Amino acid sequence: MPTNIAIFASGSGSNAENIARHFCNNESIRVVLVVSNKPDAYVLQRAERLGIPSVVLTAADMRDEARVMALLREYRVDFIVLAGYLLRVPAYLVDAYPQAMLNIHPALLPEFGGKGMYGERVHQAVIAAGRTRSGITIHFVNENYDEGAHVFQVECAVDPDDTPDTLAAKVHALEYAHFPRVIEEVITAR
Ligand code: GRF
Repeated sequence: MPTNIAIFASGSGSNAENIARHFCNNESIRVVLVVSNKPDAYVLQRAERLGIPSVVLTAADMRDEARVMALLREYRVDFIVLAGYLLRVPAYLVDAYPQAMLNIHPALLPEFGGKGMYGERVHQAVIAAGRTRSGITIHFVNENYDEGAHVFQVECAVDPDDTPDTLAAKVHALEYAHFPRVIEEVITAR
């Protein structure tokens, strides 16, 4: 039986696309569903192009446990990947996917994480704090933002002339290089 992944994303979805492409010829792991809380998120267009079903579940929809769990059952979702998903994951979902939900954070947690720390704000904070290293953290998801057990971290340099944009580009490159592989390793080890 293949492992079926649902990717939750709120924005552009470049990681979602990179992950979907990584698994597109994989017979034992596949991306079966994209979920976004934003009806206008670009990730939905990417999903359509990739031929992956997508669903919009707003913050209010996510509170409807029966509806969300029925959807995940319909698609036989075994594993959830959060890739730029900005809502807090409800407790029922964390409980339904123990050790089966990963998030990526564009900095070296536990620093520069938590509520409101997403996107450009993270890179601005890293630069403002004068850090010379940043990177990515891939971690299991629990009920608190950015607090689950770490699975993988890798660093990049923050150079004196880096701006939030140039740092974001370095971090994105790390995300593309490592996130699909780490997802595959975590699923394969289960
Ligand atoms: C990534 O930097 C990810 O680490 C963060 O949100 C960003 C999403 O980018 N959580 P994209 O939507 O995958 O392009």
